[in-house]
Amino acid sequence: MSKSHCRTAVLISGSGSNLQSFIDKAARGEIDLELSVVFSNKPDAYGLTRADTAGIATECLEHRNYADREAFDCAVAEVLDAYKPDLIVLAGFMRILSPWFVQHYEGQILNIHPALLPAYPGLDTHQRVLDAGEEWHGSTVHFVTEELDGGPRILQGRLAVNPDETADELCARVQAVEHQIYPEAASWFGRGRLQFRDGHILFDGKPLNEPVLKDYA
Ligand code: GAR
Repeated sequence: MSKSHCRTAVLISGSGSNLQSFIDKAARGEIDLELSVVFSNKPDAYGLTRADTAGIATECLEHRNYADREAFDCAVAEVLDAYKPDLIVLAGFMRILSPWFVQHYEGQILNIHPALLPAYPGLDTHQRVLDAGEEWHGSTVHFVTEELDGGPRILQGRLAVNPDETADELCARVQAVEHQIYPEAASWFGRGRLQFRDGHILFDGKPLNEPVLKDYA
């Protein structure tokens, strides 16, 4: 894939500050991705407004209108497939994906998780990190597999925890890191530098056994 041929669907549930970082970097020509569609499972997600403002197509389906998780995911995929996505970017999409959805887009789904995986999978990561007195925190971009927050890790942004800060302050610092690392890692995929083979990552054709680590202040 070459520049702007990587058709990208961004899936959100909320504010979409990560989405905004993709929009801004794409507008400046800093990432090799074509933002084809933004999908939300919540009609009032502010990220939909961000997409509208940027002139990106938006789609929304609510899960409560479907019998079960797989029925919803099939409907989502039908909507997304009309845009022929090469890459699915989960950006604060707060739904657990069915195995069917993960297999449908195998090796094409990226997620960002607000912790240094494998530490702190799940929710409420910032408060848990503070409560545990951790020295380091950050965020991880990874391929999505059927194991929640367990897919192969691509890129981590790390920062030192200030023991006096609140969870909200720590969250803001982590999100500022996310806005750097997520577009960067996704753009690696867009340039064809990242591949997902048999559950493992190839980066520039070589196995990536540990994620790339970047430190932030
Ligand atoms: C981000 O911090 C992302 O890491 C987190 O949700 C936030 C979305 O913010 N994702 C998860 O917790 C996934 N388990 P945004 O809507 O402003 O991009």
